[in-house]
Amino acid sequence: MTQERVKTTEFASWKNLEAHYANMQDKTIAELFKADSKRGSELTIEAAGLFLDYSKNIITDETLDLFVKFAEEANLKQAIDDMFTGKIINETEGRAVLHTALRNRNNREILVDGKDVMPDVNAVLDSLADFSERVRSGQWKGFTGKKIDTVVNIGIGGSDLGPVMAYEALKPYSKRDIKLKFVSNIDGTHMAEALIDADPETTLFIVASKTFTTLETMTNAMTARAWLIDKLGNEDAVEKHFVAVSTNAEEVSKFGIDTANMFGFWEWVGGRYSLTSAIGLPVMLAIGSENFGKMLDGFFAMDRHFAESELKNNMPALMAFIGMWYNNFFGAGSYAVLPYDQYMSRFSAYLQQMDMESNGKRTDKQGRIVDIQTGPIVWGEPGTNGQHAFYQLIHQGTKLIPCDFIGFSKSHNKLSDHHDKLMANFFAQTEALAFGKSSEEVAAEGTKESLISHKTFPGNRPTNTMMAEELTPETLGALIALYEHKVFVQGVLFNVFSFDQWGVQLGKVLAMKILDELEDTNAQLSHDSSTNNLIERYCANK
Ligand code: F6P
Repeated sequence: MTQERVKTTEFASWKNLEAHYANMQDKTIAELFKADSKRGSELTIEAAGLFLDYSKNIITDETLDLFVKFAEEANLKQAIDDMFTGKIINETEGRAVLHTALRNRNNREILVDGKDVMPDVNAVLDSLADFSERVRSGQWKGFTGKKIDTVVNIGIGGSDLGPVMAYEALKPYSKRDIKLKFVSNIDGTHMAEALIDADPETTLFIVASKTFTTLETMTNAMTARAWLIDKLGNEDAVEKHFVAVSTNAEEVSKFGIDTANMFGFWEWVGGRYSLTSAIGLPVMLAIGSENFGKMLDGFFAMDRHFAESELKNNMPALMAFIGMWYNNFFGAGSYAVLPYDQYMSRFSAYLQQMDMESNGKRTDKQGRIVDIQTGPIVWGEPGTNGQHAFYQLIHQGTKLIPCDFIGFSKSHNKLSDHHDKLMANFFAQTEALAFGKSSEEVAAEGTKESLISHKTFPGNRPTNTMMAEELTPETLGALIALYEHKVFVQGVLFNVFSFDQWGVQLGKVLAMKILDELEDTNAQLSHDSSTNNLIERYCANK
């Protein structure tokens, strides 16, 4: 049962944070650095192979101490424990939240309804590994006896974004003679383009859906099934070309996939937290079970750090505090995630669902409308591309956009001096954002008077810098777990339920109603005048 809690702004610790903000709001990062010559090495933390420098923020030790006090008043430690031990913390859906069990590499017992989940978790991992090795080695044959060279993952949201992101991120570890494609959009174009050069004899479809009822995924899966049967001329081909990943065995078998070819997971795995469940199958097919295991090791290392470290030395908690500092006190509505690694091109898109579907809520756990800002907007692109697109606004615009920079010491592709050039930009950007360039400096360069203010950089734009030696399965796992736990901490502090997503329902229901209307030429439209007009226009022109 949800415990009573006063609204956040009534917390004594929140009031202290507000008073502290009044003192801090005009401080600059430059001043803070001037006051402490060791700041750049002291405001750092290492965990699970990741190094975080959070010195280029408008914070002091006191800021973090006050956040720790706030987290204590909000019972964060208890909330962490409740998640890791399988309490029903997803109260609106009546579920435990145990993605951490999926990478619980020391097999510590985790009970759900009195039953240890670890034997089932390990059994699914073994069957995924067995299946992946059979496909990778060519032992698994298509209907006509040929080995698989193309895998199409059909899924959306959490059943797509994690696998695509991790597949892209870990490409250097992947078996290049198996091509992976991901189809998510219900727009027929997505499937049509995926099938355009696919050979039905050598293509395997993974239908990935936690519920196995999602309109987009089911529509795409039916289309793929019809395509395969049409091309191979035999319905029996489905067995060798379709596997399912789901929690819903009944719907899987209704669809016509033998449940022997289904990899299961459990309702205590949220869609956006499901990459380390069977939903990660396409990633395992690409990189192999051993590397997949290493990715789980990385997740686990960060899970342990999070569960066991004091809040002041806890990387996810620190990131959560710093994020809230800007979101809730400085009024920053968004933050940018900027990986300096092309392989991380889908990372911010993945984080968008993780953060925005989790904490984009306005009702608190007691059912009241919240009294503070909740989840921020997440966005971003890999550097250096972003530099030539939107960094202008971050440097000189009127909005405060805190940024997370992510970089690696070693590149997987040692092409001449590319990596040094990439990393030179990486370091230059956070320096420029923090310290800017004063009008005096601009004037001293002999700049025309009328251009001085245009060429001045105010600085004081906060950044976190995260570095790891190399983008490996372990570092990727640790990085994802870091953000998962950061989002978790913020959800606890915002006092919202982070593991439901009721906000996606209304649009889905309305779409089904409108679909009927689009298919029935005599339908009486009863929407608002704008929606009626748009539907009529579409129907007249389609
Ligand atoms: O519509 C949102 C959502 O429910 C996400 O939370 C989820 O990841 C996605 O749809 C896909 O759901 P499923 O895996 O059940 O197809």
